Amino acid sequence: MMAELRFDDRVAIVTGAGGGLGRQHALTLAARGCKVVVNDLGGSAHGDGKSSSAADKVVDEIRAMGGEAVANYDSVENGESIVQTALDSFGTVDIVVNNAGILRDVSFAKMSKQDWDLVLKVHLEGSMSVTHAAWPIMREKGYGRIIMTTSAAGLYGNFGQANYCAAKLGLAGLANCLAEEGRSKNIHVNTIAPIAASRLTETIMPPNLLENLKPEAVSPLVAWLCHEKCEETKGIFEVGAGFISKLRWERSQGNSFPLGKAFSVDDVARRWGKITDFTDAEHPSNVNESFSPILDNINNPSLGGNEFIDLDVASKES
Ligand code: NAI
Repeated sequence: MMAELRFDDRVAIVTGAGGGLGRQHALTLAARGCKVVVNDLGGSAHGDGKSSSAADKVVDEIRAMGGEAVANYDSVENGESIVQTALDSFGTVDIVVNNAGILRDVSFAKMSKQDWDLVLKVHLEGSMSVTHAAWPIMREKGYGRIIMTTSAAGLYGNFGQANYCAAKLGLAGLANCLAEEGRSKNIHVNTIAPIAASRLTETIMPPNLLENLKPEAVSPLVAWLCHEKCEETKGIFEVGAGFISKLRWERSQGNSFPLGKAFSVDDVARRWGKITDFTDAEHPSNVNESFSPILDNINNPSLGGNEFIDLDVASKES
């Protein structure tokens, strides 16, 4: 029988862990022996106010079940002080679950600059700030597990959430880059798009749906992605109500116009069916694979190209 996956001697920071999904991620990790920094600013769902009670309550819950946890009440924009709490209390940090979030939903026509700035600050800058402060520690020790929390709204677009969608897809971009930069240092970076009952969803979903969307159905995936045995990195996962699946980019076979021969808007219109046909689609997973058909076009003599260009656009460790 497979041994239970444990997190003994591991230290996690879970942001926004005073309620909803973050609370459950913290409880799940702590129940498996992880030491947890329970970060939560304790403000409203719109990002107003603050309070220490949300984080304190979850720390009490973890301690009551025999686990180890400390509270941190900083906004995620102050990543250094959140990581400092981990260092002061537990001496290191192995896992960062970027989860804190707010909503300021309004149609783009009515969206104020403040609505835009605040949502980007909490989600995108906040996740960057905490991760950036933990990054040198993880690089130094050659170990790290990082989670970004995106959203179906960000991945697919949703009415009235331009600020949130931009921030959430930005997080997937950040994760893609950090997964490449962290690869050689055993730092894995994955992204989840969860769906669960919380104060962010309780006003927009009917009660019978919410009853079936427990945060408990999201946290096991987070814990697996944060485990030392999990080799996954640069993944994006949709998760909720027991469903877990992986997303990837899909690219059509596309159309190649002969190199060196001008083509016009009419040619593009004529070939539109081929350009947008996903039959035999490919799934590029890095910039080299993205660039490859462009290079093929350049190198294909039958299309008027050369035969000898071999560009390596692989990312380089700096
Ligand atoms: P929630 O409102 O229950 O939890 C978010 C927590 O983040 C709150 O406890 C809040 O106090 C904290 N927080 C907010 N701003 C903070 C800041 N500046 N610094 C530190 N803590 C802060 O919401 P929920 O649903 O648990 O959301 C968790 C994450 O999951 C968010 O990033 C959200 O966008 C994302 N998400 C949730 C979905 C859902 O169905 N519940 C759907 C898609 C994404």
